[in-house]
Amino acid sequence: MGLIPDNVIDEILTRADIESVVGRYVLLKRSGGNLWGLCPFHSEKTASFSVNPAKGIYKCFGCGKGGNAINFIMEIEHLNYPEAIRHLGALYGVEIPETTSSGNDVRKDEKNRVYDILKEAAKFYYKSFNDPDIGQPAREYASKRGLSKQTLDNFGIGYSPMSWNALYDLLKSKGYKDEELTNSGIFKKSEKTGKPYELFRGRLMFPIFDSFGKIIAFGGRALGDEKPKYINSPDSLVYDKRNHLYAMNFARKEQSKQLIVVEGYMDAIAMHVAGFKNTVAALGTSFTDSQLKLCSRYAEEVVFFFDADNAGQNAALRAIKMMMEYLKKLTGINIRIKIAKVPDGKDPDEYIKVNGADKFKDVVRNALYVEDYLLERAKNDNTDPETGSLDSGKYQQDILVYGSWMNDEIKMSKMAGVAGPVLGATQQAVLSQMKKYQQIEDKKLEQQESRALERERREDIGRRNNVEEYDEPDNSMPAEVVTEQPVFKKVNDSATKEEIDLFAYALSLGSALANNDRIQKTDIIRPDDFSGDTLRELVKIFLNIYDGKNETLFAKMSDYFSRLTINGMPAEDVILKAVEAADKSSDVHVKSDMYLALLLKVRESIINCEEDRLMNLRGNASAEDKKKIDEMLSRLSDYKLSLRNRIGEL
Ligand code: UTP
Ligand code: MN
Repeated sequence: MGLIPDNVIDEILTRADIESVVGRYVLLKRSGGNLWGLCPFHSEKTASFSVNPAKGIYKCFGCGKGGNAINFIMEIEHLNYPEAIRHLGALYGVEIPETTSSGNDVRKDEKNRVYDILKEAAKFYYKSFNDPDIGQPAREYASKRGLSKQTLDNFGIGYSPMSWNALYDLLKSKGYKDEELTNSGIFKKSEKTGKPYELFRGRLMFPIFDSFGKIIAFGGRALGDEKPKYINSPDSLVYDKRNHLYAMNFARKEQSKQLIVVEGYMDAIAMHVAGFKNTVAALGTSFTDSQLKLCSRYAEEVVFFFDADNAGQNAALRAIKMMMEYLKKLTGINIRIKIAKVPDGKDPDEYIKVNGADKFKDVVRNALYVEDYLLERAKNDNTDPETGSLDSGKYQQDILVYGSWMNDEIKMSKMAGVAGPVLGATQQAVLSQMKKYQQIEDKKLEQQESRALERERREDIGRRNNVEEYDEPDNSMPAEVVTEQPVFKKVNDSATKEEIDLFAYALSLGSALANNDRIQKTDIIRPDDFSGDTLRELVKIFLNIYDGKNETLFAKMSDYFSRLTINGMPAEDVILKAVEAADKSSDVHVKSDMYLALLLKVRESIINCEEDRLMNLRGNASAEDKKKIDEMLSRLSDYKLSLRNRIGEL
């Protein structure tokens, strides 16, 4: 973690105050010294998510997640530590120096190698596509699909030849290692030979760019009817498909207030060609909350196209439910959602080909707001196509379910207003039934979640305290035998109540420990004042930073808390509770005295232990050793006396 200089982290934690960082995502209300809101990390109806501005930390008492502003951004934006710092730096105007390549940056180097591999691969596919012989079938297919040279070039479309190793050999000749190739996602490791082989063969290749135009993955379409129709890069070191949208690198440049989301690569391309350059495509999975978030960064309105078939329409319902759930939870995202429908069950690509771009404008214009779309669906899905009669029981059920998804009462009431007359009921009756339904659904969801949370919490505790220690590689063994299993040290996380309180008072005093007429230098806690590994470790870290800024001390320490346990409980829970008690006395003198009293007690109990140990040894010791032991015992007892006297003075 030492890569980004400490003063920069300090600066980030000072400027990016937890209240404003969290406030971008969660609506917070003040109560006492803390702020409260609905946890963005699990679904809940009553606020158990708290923010402590004075300490610069957040903590959810429902799901247990907690930490400082940097941790919050890591969690909610799915970023790693340095990325989260850069993110906050950009938002709060703190310049982050470029780090040199060492330590944690190994990962960054690894990533850059993967980006380079993907760029090389794209060049190779592009060349193959344009090769007079090799690229022939791909060019034929592309022209059949109406892709012009300009379009092909613009989207970087290529062709992966029917070969297991052409790209492999090329990249090896450029010095890339097997491991780097498998990191990129476009190679797989052969079970038989252990060598990487190419994932894409004989396919039309679509490079997938991130929002800033870097290649992060590929999609490859079969040229004929072979299955699967598309193969996509799996998630890799640089690619998490949940966080990206195809063609966003182009679409975001439009600075249109609207984004159009379609299902396929080819649809997105056809839309761009037809002039709808604000179009993106999901990446072969159902639409995710991160993708909605990404959209909200660039647009105020998102228009979705789902395939007209059953699978597509079910996907629409799932996506709507997910998005509503997400919008209910988060403030700060203000986005309108519309659902569009291409006539005649075509996809956008096919429709534009037949009817032209102008007609398609109407299709976009006719998109319905979610609540209107759902009203229409409830009606259409439950109307007999032959007799035209509506099954009002089923209609009612669907309406109540859809209504319960809505993220605001206006939408709900609007739906009730339309459905009421159809059902022969008042708007009020439908609305109140919707709300009841919502409560029942919410409760179910909460029960499900609390079970999942309990499981997660146990897993979290199990993951903590893993202090990795790599053994020296054993060169005498053949390479196949040596495995890189990290050896985990067993950590003793025990601590007495007094030790915990002592550490809490130290945290509460912070820099006041150093500038204090009652507390002498020798009175500052030391790792060996504590019996367990965890507190010793934390004290070491504390000693390095306690005389810095008090405002950021706790936030900085909380980075470490969240990786450790104390007496089998999350360290941050144990410590936060103790610190809150210590914080109650606002007077520094009172606090200092409490600190000293605890310190002396803790030190006394260490001496008591040591005395017991020596007394035990003394039993079987030689005459000479007995003498030494007695000397030690007498020194200890002097020391104890001096401690006693100081306790008396307090
Ligand atoms: P579709 O099956 O609707 O194909 O899949 P499409 O986009 O119309 O493709 P063309 O026009 O036949 O070429 C929609 C999207 O779902 C993903 C792809 O992202 C595709 O663009 N998909 C589909 C896969 O990932 N794998 C598949 O086998 C099929
Ligand atoms: Mn299609």
